[in-house]
Amino acid sequence: MRLTILGGGGFRVPLVYGALLGDRGEGRVTEVVLHDLDAGRLYAVARVLAEQAAGVSDAPRVTTTTDLDEALRGADFVFSAIRVGGLEGRANDERVALDEGVLGQETVGAGGIAYGLRTVPVAVDIARRAARLAPDAWVINFTNPAGLVTEAMSRHLGDRVIGICDSPVGLGRRIARVLGVSAHDAFVDYVGLNHLGWVRGLRVAGRDELPRLLADPGLLGSFEEGKLFGVDWLQSLGAIPNEYLHYYYFNREAVRAYQHAEKTRGAFLRDQQAHFYEEMRDPDAAALTAWDRTRAEREATYMAENRETAGAGERHADDLSGGYEKVALALMRAIARDERATLILNVRNKGTLSVLDSEAVIEVPCLVDANGAHPVAVAPLPGHATGLVCSVKAVEREVLAAAASGSRAAAVKAFALHPLVDSVNVARRLVEGYTAVHPGLHYLK
Ligand code: G6P
Ligand code: MN
Repeated sequence: MRLTILGGGGFRVPLVYGALLGDRGEGRVTEVVLHDLDAGRLYAVARVLAEQAAGVSDAPRVTTTTDLDEALRGADFVFSAIRVGGLEGRANDERVALDEGVLGQETVGAGGIAYGLRTVPVAVDIARRAARLAPDAWVINFTNPAGLVTEAMSRHLGDRVIGICDSPVGLGRRIARVLGVSAHDAFVDYVGLNHLGWVRGLRVAGRDELPRLLADPGLLGSFEEGKLFGVDWLQSLGAIPNEYLHYYYFNREAVRAYQHAEKTRGAFLRDQQAHFYEEMRDPDAAALTAWDRTRAEREATYMAENRETAGAGERHADDLSGGYEKVALALMRAIARDERATLILNVRNKGTLSVLDSEAVIEVPCLVDANGAHPVAVAPLPGHATGLVCSVKAVEREVLAAAASGSRAAAVKAFALHPLVDSVNVARRLVEGYTAVHPGLHYLK
């Protein structure tokens, strides 16, 4: 079984490889092809993987290439984890928005739109090539903004592209932990768009345990989302939102905190990772140690500003171990071995949420088997959540239209329609600002 990773010189690739090393089952991945535009990054990551594999018998063979078509040919699975414009681009996405007084975040609000506008054309090119060169391969999209990018790719790959994110899994795990039930046995009733979903129930053996949590302020205040959103607000909602909804519900505080932060998240990661890749140029450096130290620091500071505005404190140790590689591996296993699993994934709606058309990519629990991921029926969202989901989906559609046509007017409309952009004039200036700093947006005319 051959797995190709696009963005193969990316920082989180060793997480994926670590998960593969732990998979001893039949039909496991035996060959990993890393593709990246930057040979130096490939070299650095390949060194980490080599150290991870030391002493492991039958570790998956790793090869690297900068030729995209070569990487795609013969792949059984393709992980797409690219970052168009690099972390410098992410820092610019944040800065331009924050200077306008609106949120700059890689997936939410103006920053997410800018990142989407840059990424969609590249993701579409990958999807077209994959459809031609590896028509039977399953493409698993990790690239943010994950829902939007998956939808762009699905127009060329249909149900052969599946988007993943670890945040709903992490949320389900935290709720299970605080309730003292096994996450493994629980069905998490979650739905929405990527980074815009709500847990409305958590069923163990058919019994919904969530009301017990919502009714208990002590319990509710003791875990991550309770601290981030506050007990009262969670009780008012009657649901547990994805942590990214903090950017919506506490937008003013989040924007202010990001404006005043010493460095934005993107700028922090840009500098942190530049240091790591620089270290890897020394042939005597201990690659795995350096990578792990850098990873731990990244995990510990995740959403630090949001937690600070809420006085939420440090992250729980169990949340620091990553997770998206586990979702990816579970998905790949379920498809490759036809082992039925229920996973929260980004797939086409197909009537699951009646307010959206069937092509709209949503984030929802899916039954996965050799035929792919099939969304399960879920209860409708309440009005306030439906409103947000529909608004943001309309924004995503404008981004897709702008990327397909190159229309600057469509790009302005995308920004202007976003609930976190408060004036059409701001939207116009954002398009000005972003096209000035991003070469990847020069296609907008
Ligand atoms: C969460 C999100 C991902 C994001 C990751 C890393 O897992 O769901 O979409 O890529 O965090 O965030 P960071 O700010 O460290 O890049
Ligand atoms: Mn995510």
